[in-house]
Amino acid sequence: MCGIVGYIGQQEAYPILIKGLHRLEYRGYDSAGVALINAAGDLHVYKTHGKVNDLEHFCESKDTTGTIGIAHTRWATHGEPNDVNAHPHYSTNGKIAIVHNGTIENYNVLKQALEEHGCTFRSETDTEVVVKLIEYIQSTNNCELIDAVRETLNQVIGAYAIAIIDKDQPDTIIAARKSSPLVIGIGENETFIASDATPIIDYTNQVVYLRDDEIAIIKRGEPLRVITNANEPSKIDIQTLRLSVSQLEKGGYPHFMLKEIYEQPNTIFDCIRGRVVNNATEIKLSGVIDHSDRFINARRIIIVACGTSWHAALIGQRLLQDIARIPTSVEYASEFRYSNPVLTSDDIVIAISQSGETADTLAAIKLARENGAFVYGVCNVVGSSIARETDTGTYIHVGPEIGVASTKAFTGQVTVLAMLALAVAQLRGTISQEKLSEFSRSIEQLPSLIKETLKLNDAIEKLSSTYTYVRNFLYLGRGYNYPSALEGALKLKEISYIHAEGYPAAEMKHGPIALIDREMPTVVIAPSDELHEKIISNIQQVKARGGSVIAIVTRGDTTIPEIADHTLEIPPVPEALSPIIVSIPLQLLAYHIAVMKGCNVDMPRNLAKSVTVE
Ligand code: F6R
Repeated sequence: MCGIVGYIGQQEAYPILIKGLHRLEYRGYDSAGVALINAAGDLHVYKTHGKVNDLEHFCESKDTTGTIGIAHTRWATHGEPNDVNAHPHYSTNGKIAIVHNGTIENYNVLKQALEEHGCTFRSETDTEVVVKLIEYIQSTNNCELIDAVRETLNQVIGAYAIAIIDKDQPDTIIAARKSSPLVIGIGENETFIASDATPIIDYTNQVVYLRDDEIAIIKRGEPLRVITNANEPSKIDIQTLRLSVSQLEKGGYPHFMLKEIYEQPNTIFDCIRGRVVNNATEIKLSGVIDHSDRFINARRIIIVACGTSWHAALIGQRLLQDIARIPTSVEYASEFRYSNPVLTSDDIVIAISQSGETADTLAAIKLARENGAFVYGVCNVVGSSIARETDTGTYIHVGPEIGVASTKAFTGQVTVLAMLALAVAQLRGTISQEKLSEFSRSIEQLPSLIKETLKLNDAIEKLSSTYTYVRNFLYLGRGYNYPSALEGALKLKEISYIHAEGYPAAEMKHGPIALIDREMPTVVIAPSDELHEKIISNIQQVKARGGSVIAIVTRGDTTIPEIADHTLEIPPVPEALSPIIVSIPLQLLAYHIAVMKGCNVDMPRNLAKSVTVE
């Protein structure tokens, strides 16, 4: 949800800012802009609707010199994506420029008050209100920029990560955050700021994650200073990034999404490394070990998440109930936060989030903690807000996920949830040593099973051409694979814009069956499990109505290939882990159909990777 970058140092800022914007483009890509102060002290603001490439074309004949600058790539919240609403926004006197990620909830009230004092606005954005308020406070109070910024931030309600430059202070960037992420990179005589660490890693691995209600004063040639909105000095905690530049590049693949699908044998290996131990006789998750009492005494577990992470949560619910025997429910974080939940200190809330920045999930965590629950995070991005706001947790360690459609994070989340269920079952004595070892060995085999399943790619690419121009798809699955059906449908709709619905297979006869005809294909997830016979009847019901069927079956199934139009065989895997293997053909199917339709799979329209607004 919008990416911001800033640079101050000895180098030319523009190339660094543009490269950083490309890295952050997954956060929003409907417009982009940059503000620079050149050696003569002039402030230049260039912005345009479209992607970062469009900004580069726009800037081709412009003065882009200067060793200080801020930049932005936008995912529109207030005001349509056009040149005027693009960031940076600037003060009426043209001296102060701002970039912002987040939403200012009381912007209308502030705007009206400023208009009553004669202030005029160019854009429809909430952000312009912030810079105009800074300007107003600075001129009426005749105060320093930093005091005007502080005062402004004390008046705004909402979420923000902002960066500000002022042509009267060409050696300073002011940055601040509340509920939206902001990372500061500390280099040799240069400082970087960004919404996440990906624009920074090329230059330094020393970073400071700004906390809520903190303001950073970044002056050229001086050590970083951080204060609170209340003007108290803040402790600066410098951390070392564990991220490599090669993880941020496509590595020969046409899209990040395909690269990330193919990375899964390795990412799952990294995810389980050091956690399935002692010859697969033990699961070691430090978050569980350090808080064993909480898990032993847990009355129930509530999992909160959004989107794909919510689908992983549904699988986690089954795993925790089946294996650890703890009553577990799943809530959309966006609903949970407004549901006035009854929580006690015996409750564990698990928050799942790839980015660790999703606003609804973050708010759900805060609410859970305020109500006394113990909160466990399952995140990918190390040092993210959710990772820091939770009591403890487990990183999925799948590396940066850049394609907007989540793939390797989903399989990492389900793998962590399986290990979590086993670790808790171990503590509570709800699993025998024999079963635990058997299950753990299956987890260890996941990387090689994924590798084998990826061989389906060519067959999936071929069959995708039959379905490229279909308008609707149905996905059916049962038990552990009902969430897989939801996830398969989500993958297809978000990147190919084909309407798709996921259903528990047995529910089909209660309504969706009315939609089945020759125009509506059905993907049936039908591995050889307990409910295999039942799902065969569902396939027959679809076929009887002229619908075509793509079935995902376990190798060796002889019945379904006889009736389905296309069969994709996966290797045998225990039912509870099958969603991880099943997700590979589902991801590939969505990918190939979208590519054949000519869609931008890495940056689907209207979406952003990190949803930091409500
Ligand atoms: C879908 C997708 C989204 C995210 C959702 C939550 O492919 O990526 O549905 O899963 O926005 O994001 P995180 O996991 O970062 O909280």
